[in-house]
Amino acid sequence: MNVKSAAELRQMYLEFFKEKGHAIIPSASVIPENDPTVLFTTAGMHPLVPYLLGAKHPMGTRLCDVQKCIRTGDIDEVGDESHCTFFEMLGNWSLGDYFKKEAISWSWEFLTSPDYLGLDPDRLAFSVFAGDENAPRDEEAAEIWKSVGVKEDKIYYLPKKNNWWGPAGLTGPCGPDTEMFVITDKPPCSPECSPACDCGRFLEIWNDVFMQYNKQADGSFPPLEQKNVDTGMGLERTIGVLMGKKSVYETDLFSDIIAKICELCGKEYGLDPDQTRSIRIIADHMRTATIIMGDDRGVTPSNVDQGYVLRRLIRRAVRHGMKLGMPVGSCAEIALVVVNQYKDVYPELKRNEQRIIEQLNLEEDRFQRTLKQGLREFEKTIAKLNQADTIDGASAFKLYDTYGFPIEITVEMAKEKGLKVDEAGFEECFRHHQQLSHAGAEQRFKGGLADHTEQTAKLHTATHLLQAALRQVLGEEVNQKGSNITAERLRFDFSFPRKMTSEEKVETERLVNEYIKADAEIVCEEMTVDEAKEQGATGLFESRYGERVKVYTMGEFSKEICGGPHANRTGELKSFKLVKEESSSAGVRRIKATIG
Ligand code: ALA
Repeated sequence: MNVKSAAELRQMYLEFFKEKGHAIIPSASVIPENDPTVLFTTAGMHPLVPYLLGAKHPMGTRLCDVQKCIRTGDIDEVGDESHCTFFEMLGNWSLGDYFKKEAISWSWEFLTSPDYLGLDPDRLAFSVFAGDENAPRDEEAAEIWKSVGVKEDKIYYLPKKNNWWGPAGLTGPCGPDTEMFVITDKPPCSPECSPACDCGRFLEIWNDVFMQYNKQADGSFPPLEQKNVDTGMGLERTIGVLMGKKSVYETDLFSDIIAKICELCGKEYGLDPDQTRSIRIIADHMRTATIIMGDDRGVTPSNVDQGYVLRRLIRRAVRHGMKLGMPVGSCAEIALVVVNQYKDVYPELKRNEQRIIEQLNLEEDRFQRTLKQGLREFEKTIAKLNQADTIDGASAFKLYDTYGFPIEITVEMAKEKGLKVDEAGFEECFRHHQQLSHAGAEQRFKGGLADHTEQTAKLHTATHLLQAALRQVLGEEVNQKGSNITAERLRFDFSFPRKMTSEEKVETERLVNEYIKADAEIVCEEMTVDEAKEQGATGLFESRYGERVKVYTMGEFSKEICGGPHANRTGELKSFKLVKEESSSAGVRRIKATIG
């Protein structure tokens, strides 16, 4: 039997696992309910975490579903043949029920049996976990693959980077996995070509995770009480393979959406590469935006969290629409096609149709109002660059703050002109701005948020002490490139060309603890940028918030321009622990640390 549409694939998958004793459950929301560490549901297992940890699921110990997932990490790649920000994951779970043998045999049966997908075994390859200090080499999985008929040379042993899944957030259930690949027509890129390289020869379509560890915040991996199976098959990719399409955008999941975009713009898909890329970006972003707004949790465009991702998707789509001559008001028309395409699988889209249309029209309107002026401002910024090839962070921030250009729009437009953007500088301005608004918000909402605010303030103070210690240990070349604080930890990015040695890490941690022990008073003064410079303060000097800035002084060791808020004395931090030091990007290191 062969599958001819995405709808048939969804149904066949669910029927197959129903026959194997699984209960079919509906897709959960794309907005995670109890996990503040991620913005969106990124995999089918995500909403099932409590059950993977041992809670009883009302539908039993074998479940399967089709889950709406959003991953925006590769947003810049959207427009090529395979990347999408929204995708559907077909999944089956064992909650302490079956394990490797059944999971692998069923995956094999579904992939190769003529009653199901009927894929040629010679076109398939498999990877299993090579083993490390956290878990042994997965010979068991390899043996099971061999026992169902996989040839030895089609099994690849790969490290944790490739063959380990989870946790979905910072902590939680995870384990080694075995991944299934379709071998495409692309020739091997080298004699070592394997599913680990991204040359495109091996296309991953399914992943069986053997979830038996529970990652802790301290980086340890104690075993989970129950052993689970978590699997995920990508619907878009798999239907693409089955239908022999080169691109997911050419499958039936996208055909109506793309036809609508072409009709609105009066363009033809596939003629001009730049236009095709823009059409794909609009199709992808409008599909994801519609799914987010059509969710019962009701996210609307804003400048924070999920709302900000949504805003960026819509605005980037509008910008590409403008390049194609797409008329104002088109977003809502495209969204109606998306609702129609998915309403039978996700009925909430129809329920929320009105809100989707209203919000899209509002957001398109808001952006259109500043878009033309923003484009003029962009041209002016470029004209001022002279021979330089990088737009500075403050200008990118102005485009964001005054004209509503999300950073990737500025980056993309710059790239079209062969220019770069100082993204770290932008982030710095962004962070600075948010701190100022945060301080303002605190005045207005005294009370309720106190605990959270207090912890944030302390972590913020710890960030200053860390920067001071790093400059002491590594030298003055250390400069802040970014900072992020959650309830649990701080993250600090700074310029430095190499990995820190363990001695340097120990010494940095020791110094920060010494500053904390000194229990220095933290003093905040307002002064002009020039006065701050004179006093040797570090921090952001290109202030666009007027003449006067706040300078926070902590004993003899730290003086920084900053919006605050901070602790009152360094002693309040109690203690400081450097959890991790890693690379963030070229020439930039990243430290994660905790206090208390
Ligand atoms: N959770 C696994 C994945 O997303 C199945 O690949």
